[in-house]
Parts: sequence; structure tokens; C-alpha cells
Amino acid sequence: MKIQFETELCNILNIRYPLIQAGMAGGPTTPELVAGVSRAGGLGSLGAAYMQPEAIREAIRSIRRVTDRPFAVNLFVVDMKDDFSRLAEVQRVLAPMGERLGIVPGGKELHSPDLFVEQFQVLLEEKVPVVSTAFGTLPEDAAKEARSAGMKVTTMVTTVEEALLAEEKGADVVIAQGSDAGGHRGTFDVAAHPSGANIGTFSLVPQVADRVKVPVVAAGGIMDGRGLIAALVLGAQGVQLGTRFLTAAESGANPVYQRALLGSTEEDTVVTKVFSGRPARGIRNRFIEEFDASGIEPLPFPSQNTATGEVRRAAAAHNDAEYLSLWAGQATRLLTEGERAEEIVEGVMEEARKLIGVE
Ligand SMILES: Cc1cc2nc3c(=O)[nH]c(=O)nc-3n(C[C@H](O)[C@H](O)[C@H](O)COP(=O)(O)O)c2cc1C
Repeated sequence: MKIQFETELCNILNIRYPLIQAGMAGGPTTPELVAGVSRAGGLGSLGAAYMQPEAIREAIRSIRRVTDRPFAVNLFVVDMKDDFSRLAEVQRVLAPMGERLGIVPGGKELHSPDLFVEQFQVLLEEKVPVVSTAFGTLPEDAAKEARSAGMKVTTMVTTVEEALLAEEKGADVVIAQGSDAGGHRGTFDVAAHPSGANIGTFSLVPQVADRVKVPVVAAGGIMDGRGLIAALVLGAQGVQLGTRFLTAAESGANPVYQRALLGSTEEDTVVTKVFSGRPARGIRNRFIEEFDASGIEPLPFPSQNTATGEVRRAAAAHNDAEYLSLWAGQATRLLTEGERAEEIVEGVMEEARKLIGVE
């Protein structure tokens, strides 16, 4: 088998290396990180799901001031209807946490904004080269608009069935996310899979690659050149790395979060709904332990995310990693500290080249 780094994926996304930095909502993917990855020849992605539309526009312009290479903007495609019917019992779990952090959570009326239409409008107006989605496929009208604007679409999937649906709905690329992955499980229907589909990257990627015609990108626990080569052998045309970039020099992740990542092992993460109401993989901490011990079921997404926001913001202000969401994949022993995005991309490619004897 001849391993090639310049795959069809590279042609579609107009990138040199088959390496995507995952869009990670919540602040880690600064414009400097995204631009650094794209400048190095990969595809940087802005995790824009929780950003206000005008903040997305500003970030896009900041990326473009540094690089003219393609990049992606990542959004959630998900029902944003709130259900706060059990808020009082959830707040009874959050109250002692808030007290420890010097706040009284629950003082304000809560509401989760549904920003997708305005966010997507900014992506269209700014002619973003690639739009990537999590939790679902682009709505039909948005997919049509993206196509007419010449934008490429990537959709994250966690089962073969989701991959086939994404292809049918016009995705140019599917990102096959194994259960090793950090952050939210991309599973479309969490009512059917309450913990997210639980298929590891090594099992998922070849099965998806055998069934869809569009290029497949492997995600979940991939950190270095070994992971890239393994993914290509399994039938992927590229890789998407999230956790690896959280400790990059340009990462916007809170320094205490970065310390927790660097001090963690493959045994430290769990899939939990306690932060957002959707299953996501992160490092076990006191927030997770106390919520689990309460026996209270988290609210559905996005209401749980909104309800826990005050505690998480207070924890960030106090540099307290015990009450932050510490999203992480299962391969954190392979993290490096403080490398620049370009060095990470070059390092992965260099190791991959050496492994297959290509200089
Ligand atoms: C901190 C963090 C935040 C994430 N946020 C998003 C997101 O907003 N959108 C998305 O499509 N994927 C998100 N992901 C998942 C990534 O797309 C990817 O599937 C995952 O990082 C791959 O596993 P790895 O972390 O082991 O590399 C996130 C992952 C992490 C670690």
C-alpha cells in the first residue's frame, strides 16, 4: 500500500497537508491558532458555536490578516429549544459549588440564544472557505447557499449511518469521530444514544471509509505522525486533532486547564452530560463527581450548558480547574507543552514522513 499525504481531501479543501485542527467552541481556537495551522499547510478551524455573530466576523478578519490560506469555521447544528422545567433541582446541586466560588447561581432568568441563522449569515457574507458542523448536517437551505457561495462543508459523524446521511445531505467531507475523542460526542440523536455512539476511532474509520464516497477524516485520540499514518492505512484521507492543540502556544485554553491536561493520563477522562446536557469527554473533576453523587439528571442541552455557565465562569475567574469543563481525548500523555501551531503541524508531518521512509 502506498501512503500518500496529498489526498483528494487536500484538493477539496485546498490544503497542503491532510491535517485539520478541530474547531473547539469555548475559546481555545484563537485566530492566531487557526491561522498558524493554516499557514503551516493544515486546515485551522475556528470553534464558533458559542460566539456572537459579530465576534465571529471579527475573528475571521483577524485570521485573514495573518494568512490567505483556507480555514474552517465550526458551528453546532442542533435544536436550541430550552427546557428548564427541572431547573430548581439542578440549581440545588450547583448552589454549593457556587458558594465555594463566591457566587449565588440562579439569580438571573436563563435563556439559551439560538444564533445559528445569524452565525451562518456571517460565514456566507465573509465567504468562509470551509464550514464544519457538529451534532447534525447543515439545514437544506444553508447547504444550498454554502454550495452556491463555493464553500466546502465538513460534517462530524460517529456512526456509519450518520456518515451516509451526511453524504446524502451534501457534505464534501465526513469527520469520523471515535469515542476516544475529546469534547462533545458528535452523535446526531442523543435520545437514541444517551452517552453518544460509543465506537472507537480504530473501529469506526474503516467501516465509514468502506461505505461513503466522500473523503473521510479520522478524529479521536490522534496526536502525532503515528496516528496520521494509522488513520491513512485505515482508509481515512486525513486526520482532525483537537486535544493536541489545546496546549499549543496560541491556545486560548485557560492555563489551569492546560496544566490539568498535561498532568492527566489515558485513565482520567469520562463521558459526561453534567456540564452541557449532551455527552462529552473530559477529565474527571469535582464538578463531575459532585453532580453524579447528587443523583440528579442534568437538564437537556442547551439548558444544562446555560444553567452551569455561571459556575464555570466563576471557576475560570478563580483559576479553579475543579469546576471547569476540562474537555480532553484519551491520548493526553502524548501532549507537548507550548509548541507553536506551525511546529505541531510540521512535527506531525515530519514524524509521519519518517515512518514511511519519505523525506
Ligand atoms: C476542548 C474541545 C472542544 C471541542 N469543541 C468542538 C466543537 O465546538 N465543534 C466540533 O465539531 N468538535 C469539537 N470538539 C471535538 C473535535 O472536533 C474532535 O472530534 C476531537 O477533538 C478529536 O479528538 P481528540 O481531542 O482526541 O483529538 C472539541 C474537542 C475538544 C477537545
